[in-house]
Amino acid sequence: MKRPIVVVTRKLPPVVESRLIADYVPRLNPDDLQLSRESLLESAVGADALLITITDRFDTELIQKLPRSVKIISTFSAGCDHIDMKAARERGIVVTNVPDVLTAATAEVAILLMLGAARRASEGELVMRSGNWPGWSPTYMLGRQLSGKRLGIVGFGRIGEATARIAKGLGLEILYHSRRSSSAAEQLGARYFADLDEMLENSEVLSLHCPSTPSTIGLLSTDRIAKLPRGAIVVNTARGDLIDDAALINALETGSVGAAGLDVYNGEPAIHPGYRLLPNTFLLPHLGSATIETRQAMGMRAIDNLDTFFSNNHCNHAA
Ligand code: DGY
Repeated sequence: MKRPIVVVTRKLPPVVESRLIADYVPRLNPDDLQLSRESLLESAVGADALLITITDRFDTELIQKLPRSVKIISTFSAGCDHIDMKAARERGIVVTNVPDVLTAATAEVAILLMLGAARRASEGELVMRSGNWPGWSPTYMLGRQLSGKRLGIVGFGRIGEATARIAKGLGLEILYHSRRSSSAAEQLGARYFADLDEMLENSEVLSLHCPSTPSTIGLLSTDRIAKLPRGAIVVNTARGDLIDDAALINALETGSVGAAGLDVYNGEPAIHPGYRLLPNTFLLPHLGSATIETRQAMGMRAIDNLDTFFSNNHCNHAA
């Protein structure tokens, strides 16, 4: 069989690119430049497949302009919110994603954010790096302990569950809200809340793990934030658009939310400047899946999806 042509929109780990070179005719992006829509369409001419990432926004207009030769979009991500799935379906383009492989890495970052926010890690780092540490004292830079706190998890999919498991080990009590209760959660002794607002009232720590969809965008609004206990800690490793930034920043300023640990943002990479100015935020640059092991696994899975499609014309559909 003729090796399919694959447009690869970003630089991928070397082992992943080597496999693409061996099995496909890849159009690589060695300089890792963000492709404009025009250059993306240009490089897609005559291509059979696109291997894209979350930084490529495939809206209706772009999908409609894709050359007819493109039959599959394999996204190097678990999330598919950057792709208009309906438009792809209408064009007969298969979309695949890479769930599972980033579960552990993302759950680790959720815990890192919880600890960093609760224990004032940003402030501590800043003091050490600026050489301004006045020295130990009994009342210096006191944070909050996680053990014994109630952690509310929104979305009990793979990552929500993995986060709950680690959090339980740290001594947190687990609450969760999702479309339905889960037996895995029950085994962890987690308490199910069909009603999100009711769970928020009980969540001293809140961690978001649901996808970005029309019904979850803006989920953490002013009204919902007001339901959290005073001083609650908010963590987000899912998607920035789940949070109303102005509402969270205001709550962090007044202390109604005690601290926030964030890895994802509206309008990445241009984040709301309010977050940077606050001492009670612990901020990471979308590092949830950023381990060597996970990024390699994501690439391998994205190629597995292409392999399956081109050998069987049947693959792991994203939705
Ligand atoms: C994903 O795969 O959806 C992640 O956000 C990338 O880290």
